[in-house]
Amino acid sequence: MSHFLRVRDLQKGEIRRLFARAAQLKRRRREGHLEDSLAGKTVVLLMEKASTRTRLSFAAAAFQLGGHAIELSAGTSQLARGEPRVISGYADAVVMRTTADARLEEFVRWSSVPVINGLTDGGHPVQVLTDLFTVEESIGAVAGKRIAFVGDGSGNMARSFLEAALLLDFTLQLGAPPAFRPPAGEAQAAGRHLEVTGDPRAAVAGADVVVTDVWTSMGQEAEAAARLKAFQGFTVDAALMSAARPGAIVLHCLPAHRGEEITDEVLEGPQSRVFEEAENRMHVQKALLEHVILGGVADIIEA
Ligand code: CP
Ligand code: NVA
Repeated sequence: MSHFLRVRDLQKGEIRRLFARAAQLKRRRREGHLEDSLAGKTVVLLMEKASTRTRLSFAAAAFQLGGHAIELSAGTSQLARGEPRVISGYADAVVMRTTADARLEEFVRWSSVPVINGLTDGGHPVQVLTDLFTVEESIGAVAGKRIAFVGDGSGNMARSFLEAALLLDFTLQLGAPPAFRPPAGEAQAAGRHLEVTGDPRAAVAGADVVVTDVWTSMGQEAEAAARLKAFQGFTVDAALMSAARPGAIVLHCLPAHRGEEITDEVLEGPQSRVFEEAENRMHVQKALLEHVILGGVADIIEA
């Protein structure tokens, strides 16, 4: 059974096939084709934290492939008791968004259907997969590229990017204050694919892609004031972008705190691919749902 809990749960070749299928599904939707690869399949979305994109993009993905999605959120369900064996009886795949990675892993232990990580404290692999698809769509192969991540280097987005750097052979130029760096073991595992600095300008120097994320992630609200202070100078604004390669693109998983980690001007500007990135969540996750439910993406050879 293929779960997708972290970026490295996919092999390089599987990611290539997934991206090819996502691009095909995106094009076919634009052309008005209807798909039925997940006809009769049910995806259960277990949301223990707030979400707009993840809920909508997975639900739309399942529906547009001929299946459907049912969402349970904390507070309206008995998720706290953990009912993975029961849910497995109804679902063909589960997308779970939760707090600690251990909570996701405990769910997986009892699940007999594939589970996809819809964000945990330790990673946001579906988002990073989509971000890399968006990079390739916009500026070509990620291999050999320089991707700057500016801001919270200890957060779920930075940690999933770090994992992807090793797997897909790009350099992650991380610009983060010393107290907000990835766990040492994860940084070590990335080897030469990670370059770390406390200077945001040095981080974006020569970068093909500049990525940022909120300074205060869900669950860290009590630290918001201290984080706001710690990340002063790490805003992705026009001045910082001038240190990146001309034509560098900007990504942000959203939701953004405009004026904090990124300015309105950059988010809405010509280098931003943020809204393509958001839409691409659905296309990439369609391919991912096929991968975990069907044991591989549906045939990419068109009839
Ligand atoms: N980027 C992302 O995962 O957005 P949501 O929190 O709205 O799902
Ligand atoms: N790092 C953010 C990402 C939101 C999609 C959070 O965990 O809140």
